[in-house]
Formats: sequence, C-alpha cells, structure tokens
Amino acid sequence: MKRLIPVIVLSFVLFGFLNINLQQDRWIAPEEAKSVKNPVKSIDKGLSAKRGKRIFKTRCMICHGVNGVGNGPGGKALSPKPQNLTLPMVQKQTDGEIFWKVSNGRNAMIKWGPILSENERWDVVNYVRTLDN
Ligand code: HEC
Repeated sequence: MKRLIPVIVLSFVLFGFLNINLQQDRWIAPEEAKSVKNPVKSIDKGLSAKRGKRIFKTRCMICHGVNGVGNGPGGKALSPKPQNLTLPMVQKQTDGEIFWKVSNGRNAMIKWGPILSENERWDVVNYVRTLDN
C-alpha cells in the first residue's frame, strides 16, 4: 500500500497538468499577425463586407452556421467545434489576427490561404466584423 501512495499522488499531479493544458488550448495568432493592417479603406468596408457575406454563405456557414454562431450542420461532429464568431473572444482580436487564422486554419478549420484570394479573405474578415452583437 505504501508503495502505491507516490503513484496515486503522481497520477493526480499529471491529471491536473493535462487538464490545465487542455483548457489553455486557445488558438492564438502569432504576435506579428496582430498589427497587420486591413487594406480595405473604411469607406469601402460596407461593400467589402457584402462581398464577404456571399463568400461566408458558400464557404463558412456549413460549419459556423447562419450568423456565425457556430452551429452549422457540418460542425456537429467536430472537436473542437467551429467557433462562435460573434463572441468577444473572437471580436476582441484585431483584423490581422482574424485574417491570419482564416488564412492558416487549424484542426478542422480549413486553411483558406490557398483557396481564397487575399482580397476575398479580407472581404470575409470584414463580414465577420459585422457579426459583433
Ligand atoms: C469544415 C468546417 C469549417 C469551415 C468550412 C470553416 N471553419 Fe472556421 N473554424 C472551424 C473550426 C473547427 C474552428 C476551431 C478551430 C480550432 O480552434 O482549432 C474554426 C475557427 C475559426 C476562426 C477562429 C476563431 C478563434 O479566434 O478562435 C475563424 C476566424 C474562422 N473559423 C472563420 C472561418 C471563415 C471566415 C470561414 C470561411 C471562409 C470558415 N471559418 C470556414 C471550422 C470551419
């Protein structure tokens, strides 16, 4: 029995460590992505977001759902789930960070860089910005 105690203690420590690591698995864009400027001028943002909405409907809605709340049918079986794009944890990020994530992907989130042009990706970022509510 005495020999078992260190083993039990160690398992608890390991379990705690793994648990913390799972919770910290937040997707963070690299520092340099933060300051990348949105090349679309503010006066053109409305039109850009409109184009972005069309792209969102055909490319993103299947997973991120109508209005981007993360409940699309294509995302039901995924882990991690498609992010709810209306949440502050997404909307607090800079345009550059969202652009980087859309371009590079992670897990089931598709790497859109090779699929959508740079302009199309900024259009979709400008649309994602309108989901802030
Ligand atoms: C096949 C399903 C799928 C499609 C299609 C998809 N996504 Fe995602 N998306 C995901 C998943 C899953 C995550 C979470 C990835 C993770 O945290 O590892 C995600 C995460 C994101 C994030 C990061 C949110 C954050 O900060 O954590 C953004 C932004 C995003 N998606 C935008 C888009 C846009 C824009 C499109 C369309 C061009 C799109 N997604 C298409 C599944 C998808």
